[in-house]
Amino acid sequence: MIVARTRASLRDARARLPGTVGVVPTMGALHEGHRALLRTARRRERSVVATLFVNRTQFNDPADYAAYPRDEGEDLAAFEACGVDLVFAPPVSEMYPNGFGTRIDPGPIAAELEGARRPGHFAGVATVVAKLFNLTRPTRAYFGQKDWQQTRVIARMVEDLNLPIDPVIVPTVRNPDGLALSSRNVRLTPDQRQAATALWRGLASARDAWDDDERSPAALAELVRTTIRAEPLAKLEYAEVRHALTLEPVGRARPPLVIAVAADIGGIGLIDNVVLGDGLVDDGGA
Ligand code: PAJ
Repeated sequence: MIVARTRASLRDARARLPGTVGVVPTMGALHEGHRALLRTARRRERSVVATLFVNRTQFNDPADYAAYPRDEGEDLAAFEACGVDLVFAPPVSEMYPNGFGTRIDPGPIAAELEGARRPGHFAGVATVVAKLFNLTRPTRAYFGQKDWQQTRVIARMVEDLNLPIDPVIVPTVRNPDGLALSSRNVRLTPDQRQAATALWRGLASARDAWDDDERSPAALAELVRTTIRAEPLAKLEYAEVRHALTLEPVGRARPPLVIAVAADIGGIGLIDNVVLGDGLVDDGGA
């Protein structure tokens, strides 16, 4: 496994990679969710590139950026164990040199849901992902369903800017109790960790109601809200039923849909979602 720290060394190593190239962008603190992306890429591609960069421009809160877990040694070992060929782990100065000024505005999709809570977040994500695409020149790029809106912002950008890349969405990896794996989970106390299962419990009850033919978006969303509100340690941010691709509100619940939820637990923001509709998330086929 080659570790490139500079754009120049990345370019050289990338030029020597054979066949199809899959890129897996990450901010490190790797867990089984990241590993699922890496393993899917490893199965499908001749060459796998991972990126490791905690992108300051997508954090609204400097304290959140400072508190973001970092352990490069462990992350590099995890990349190696997953069969990654090339890691790009640049310092900030390599990604944002003096004079950096361009930002990608992803448009209205970035103002919904997480975007309303975190102004500028998706502009930061879109800009760094576009840079990482240009630097690594992948055939396909692998993203997790857990950050559903992020996958839609990137799909929008790929289409709007005619980027020659195929995004692949990998299903959310969960703990046995349903809590979606997240680098932020390590900051939860045992009580908060238990309260955090309310996100998945709420989504599961909405999905059960869907399976029982509930087709009112308001009723489905309310089931999630009720579950979160019953949890004293959790503060509901939003629970919404939206069109899965545009994230716009829907009148009647008809696939493709996403049920998206966000809650604050002890100052830690957690998100989760369920997607209703065929072919939106990778089914594991080759
Ligand atoms: P990060 O939070 O490190 O996540 C890297 C990738 O792992 C994302 O595509 C995310 O959706 C995916 N992921 C996280 N938790 C997951 C889970 N439980 N199951 C499946 N996939 C999961 O997302 C980012 O970094 C950044 O915004 C980035 C795209 C790297 C741009 O800076």
